[in-house]
Amino acid sequence: MRTAIFPGSFDPITNGHVDVVVRALSMFDSVIVAVLNNPEKKSMFTLSERVALIQDVFAAEGQRVLAKSFSGLLVDFARSQNASIILRGLRAISDFDYEAQMALMNRSLDPNIETVFLMASEANSYVSSSIVRQVARFGGDVRRLVPARIVEELAKKFPAKK
Ligand code: PNS
Repeated sequence: MRTAIFPGSFDPITNGHVDVVVRALSMFDSVIVAVLNNPEKKSMFTLSERVALIQDVFAAEGQRVLAKSFSGLLVDFARSQNASIILRGLRAISDFDYEAQMALMNRSLDPNIETVFLMASEANSYVSSSIVRQVARFGGDVRRLVPARIVEELAKKFPAKK
């Protein structure tokens, strides 16, 4: 059983994240989408909302995709889940410095855990949670950026002005 951990803030999950998970399912038996509990960062969706929404988005995958929250070090969480792979998406070169820093830090913390990067599709290469939050806040159309379930939740948070 090969499990990959896909960590992040997922505030909210985007089509870019979904794309990476779907690609990963052709390589791994299961993917745990791990939502960081970071009390220092103000989020649009609560931790439990983010976990529940991710679980809804991947409902059709059953046990192959699970959403869980974690606190503390990612490598400790990965070990607790018997996962030896950390999965991250790469969109553009601008992601590289941050991702390399995290991957090398995680490797130095636990050399038995490998980070695997997958490229998001071109269509999703410009999508980020922060862009989605901005567009939704100002009433823009997010239907091509996030799953339908998230469109619904964003519409509740930002009802259209008449
Ligand atoms: O997608 P994000 O929000 O940039 O994800 C960042 C995340 C959650 C992957 C990263 O902050 C993380 O792994 N935090 C847990 C603390 C940790 O393990 N730090 C050491 C590695 S940098």
